[in-house]
This record gives sequence, structure tokens and C-alpha cells, in this order.
Amino acid sequence: MKESIAKLEETQTLTKDEWTVLLSHRTDALTEELFERACKVRIQHYGKDVYIRGLIEFTNYCRNDCYYCGIRRSNRNVSRYRLNSEEILSCCHEGYKLGFRTFVLQGGEDPWFTDQRMTHLIATIKQQYPDCAITLSIGEKEEDSYRLFREAGADRYLLRHETFNSTHYRSLHPQELSASHRQQCLFTLRELGFQVGSGFMVGSPGQTPEHLAEDMLFLKNLNPHMVGIGPFVPHHDTPFAQEKAGSLELTLYLLALLRLMLPKALLPATTALGALSENGQQLGILAGANVIMPNLSPLENRASYSLYDNKPNTGTQAAENLAQLRSKMEQIGYQIVTDRGDSLVH
Ligand code: 5AD
Repeated sequence: MKESIAKLEETQTLTKDEWTVLLSHRTDALTEELFERACKVRIQHYGKDVYIRGLIEFTNYCRNDCYYCGIRRSNRNVSRYRLNSEEILSCCHEGYKLGFRTFVLQGGEDPWFTDQRMTHLIATIKQQYPDCAITLSIGEKEEDSYRLFREAGADRYLLRHETFNSTHYRSLHPQELSASHRQQCLFTLRELGFQVGSGFMVGSPGQTPEHLAEDMLFLKNLNPHMVGIGPFVPHHDTPFAQEKAGSLELTLYLLALLRLMLPKALLPATTALGALSENGQQLGILAGANVIMPNLSPLENRASYSLYDNKPNTGTQAAENLAQLRSKMEQIGYQIVTDRGDSLVH
């Protein structure tokens, strides 16, 4: 085990068997050493800066029906909303004043936002904020659509692969969705010149150490600019309402392993980490993460964009939330910076 961690740090890779062992036999002593190494590597590449991304949840309409997700199509208890351009631009305006230089447009797969509407929106934001990066997180699209978004000025795209294993993928999603199509989208995005973020949920129902080993190997192969992982957190209005949440400890352990495998990748301490524990995001940073994604969405819509239960900060203004995060980061010796925070991965 100890040898595997040393090998990982040295060669940035492991075999599937080595991953499986490492992921099924976590010990506290091992974890502590791992976090130390991960922090060192992170500081070597990114110092103690923490990059921020302004998250704008602009629509919670979704044509998909993923079994874990609170905004799945079949959930009739969500009040659906979409922000208009003016509202989205006002989120950007507020975010810019606060020091955000990346805006993440995240939404369900909402057919109302046609390619034409999306490209218009992207171009407008880019024109008003030429020094900012635009990240999209709007799911699986045709290659032509991705190309149009890129040409309109989008810089980055977040699309978690969710789980590499196709059988496991099938157990989390309806039949019309497939692991292979999802993965294909990621390679396409990368080829089109997007900085790409992938990732997976930790502790999703039915997940085994072998599945996680496959996720690590897939990420190694994709070599994304960013990897977002967070614990699965059940949502009360989904088929997985009664399932157990993923563990904070395993998520942190995986974050540190990701830091050693992909030293230059951006790793967010995700909101779902914050859903499990008050200091979840601080612990994420201490395990090797270097990005946080505070919410810029209008307060009145926050609660309706609930992918899982216990979503933090649904009632906190962006400014107040950022101030809190700033002090939380300072408490552990890190600082939030005003920067586009591009990935060092090429
Ligand atoms: N728990 C944790 N993460 C979730 N996501 C969706 N539903 C849940 C849930 N119940 C994650 C998915 C998706 C991202 C936007 O949110 O991984 O890619």
C-alpha cells in the first residue's frame, strides 16, 4: 500500500489491481501521509492559491431522468425555472465585482436553450467580460453544437463521466443514456479545444472499489484539465432517496490520489463535500484540491436547483458566502485569488 502510493507519486500511474487494493484498504495512517504528499504536489504547481468559479444555475429543466438527480424529468415536485439573459448577465455583473473571473453556466439539458440561444448568450457575456473564462456545464450535445459554443467564446466544459463502468452506468441512468456516449463527448470536447472537466460521484449506489479503479484509469487516459468529484448525496424525490450517502473520508482520499495521479489538474472542493460537513470544503483543500465554486445564482432560485438534499448556502448572498469562504481558506493558510485560474494541463 505504502509502496503503491510512492509508485503513484513517482510514475503518476498504477495498474487496475493496485488501484483496487489501494481503494479497498484505506487506513488512517496511510491517509495522513497521502494528504501530506498531495498538498506538497499541489503547492509545487499551484502554490496556496485557491481559484474561484462563479456558478450560475441558469435552468433546472432537464430532459434526462438520472435516478440520483433531484432535477430529473420525472420529479414533479420541483418548481422549474429558467433565467433570462438579463438575469444571467446580472449574476455575471455581481460576480465580476466580487472578483470572479470565471463564470460557469450550469443547467439541466433544457431544449429551450437551443444552440442559437446558447451561442448568443456566450457571445454576449464574452463581449462584456473579455477577461473572463466561460465554462459550460449543460450535458451531452452533438459535436456541431459543441463547436458552435467554442466558436462563440466558451473556454471550458464540465461533464462528469459519472462512472466509467457501463453496467454500473446503466444502473444509475435510464436506458437511453450510455457510458460510452458520455465518454465520447469528453474526447470530442477536448479535441475542440475546450479545457475539459470530468469526474464522478463517490459512493453512488452499487459502486465498488473496482469501479473506482476504472474511473481512475479512465481519467488518466482522458487527462482532463479539471476533475470534479463529490460524494453521492441522496435526494428525497428520486428513486435513490433511501440509499446511503457517499463518505466524506473516501472522497477526500480520492481527491488526494487524484492530485498524485494528475499533479497539474484543477481539483475543486465541491459543494457536495460541503453538504456532508460544515468544514468539508476546507478538508478538500487540505487533501489537495485548489478550486471552489461559489454560487452566483439568484437567491430565489437556489433551492429549486437541488440535485441532492442539504445543499449548502441556499439562503446566503454571493458576497456573504464568498467572505465566509475567504476566511475559511485563511484559517487553513490558503488564499482565494482573483484570477481566471487556467489549468496547467495541456
Ligand atoms: N449527489 C451528488 N452529486 C450529484 N450530482 C447529481 N445528483 C447528485 C446527487 N444526488 C452531480 C452529478 C452531476 C453534477 C452536476 O452533480 O455528478 O454531474
